[in-house]
Amino acid sequence: MASNNPALILLTLTPFLFLLTTQTRAQSAPAPAPSGPVNLTAILEKGGQYTTFIRLLEETQQITQIQSQLNSTTEGFTVFAFTDNAFQNLKSGAINELTDDQKVKLILYHVTPKYYTLSDLLTVSNPVRTQASESEGSWGLNFTGQGNQVNVSTGVVVTPINNALRQQFPLAVYQVDKVLLPLELFGAKSPKSAPSPKSSKTTPEIPSPATKADSAKSPADSKNDGARMHVGLGMVLGLGLICMGALS
Ligand SMILES: *[C@@H]1O[C@H](CO)[C@@H](O)[C@H](O)[C@H]1NC(C)=O
Ligand SMILES: *[C@@H]1O[C@H](CO)[C@@H](O)[C@H](O)[C@H]1NC(C)=O
Ligand SMILES: *[C@@H]1O[C@H](CO)[C@@H](O)[C@H](O)[C@H]1NC(C)=O
Ligand SMILES: *[C@@H]1O[C@H](CO)[C@@H](O)[C@H](O)[C@H]1NC(C)=O
Repeated sequence: MASNNPALILLTLTPFLFLLTTQTRAQSAPAPAPSGPVNLTAILEKGGQYTTFIRLLEETQQITQIQSQLNSTTEGFTVFAFTDNAFQNLKSGAINELTDDQKVKLILYHVTPKYYTLSDLLTVSNPVRTQASESEGSWGLNFTGQGNQVNVSTGVVVTPINNALRQQFPLAVYQVDKVLLPLELFGAKSPKSAPSPKSSKTTPEIPSPATKADSAKSPADSKNDGARMHVGLGMVLGLGLICMGALS
């Protein structure tokens, strides 16, 4: 009898099994429930290296501003959170010398009134408005992309954006390893408010290419290299022979 064939039974049952599994899967799929309101402080605290940034957000009341606007925003926000290391790498006093108003502007400069994914930033048109922007183009950030790599530039500092602490509307939070020093506060043209002229000249370090050093070597040097190698080889061979001698 055909019905005694287990393979055939399985075949007939297969469509039902399929239905059953898809049904259970649909039921067990978690509803896309928002896991509570977005909490910027919690996101930053979880990151573990943004204590100064959090402190400044709190001191300048910006945390409450952003937090309350997150509920109603249609554009969202993007926050560039500098690390504690980034802050420590600043010339001491660079921030302390700022007035309270300037501190507020500095923090506002790290926030854009729009949500940007990393791929948005690759193609965004410069300069990008920040919360500090007054007129078109002032207090803006420039983004340059190449492949999947995005740099943010203030005109004073350039730093890559690698780490996204959060990338989901209405809030994106990215790590920056440099404090984004605005041209308006730290540019060379405003010496009064530029506490450390040296730090405003953070030219990217260009490592001198090794090939340059090599090509600078005279042919004699290369010959010496060759000779040295022969000596080395000789020593290894000699040692080997000594060992063999010792063994025999
Ligand atoms: C956000 O998180 C911080 C730190 O975890 C907490 O102190 C604060 O109460 C939270 N705020 C809200 C609105 O949940
Ligand atoms: C934002 O919304 C959450 C829940 O959706 C609510 O608990 C919270 O009080 C709201 N906060 C403000 C500032 O409106
Ligand atoms: C980012 O900046 C670094 C250093 O300034 C530079 O080497 C790199 O080419 C830049 N990348 C992009 C995508 O602009
Ligand atoms: C930013 O980009 C705009 C447009 O390309 C340019 O005019 C401006 O000089 C740039 N600013 C900085 C600080 O790089």
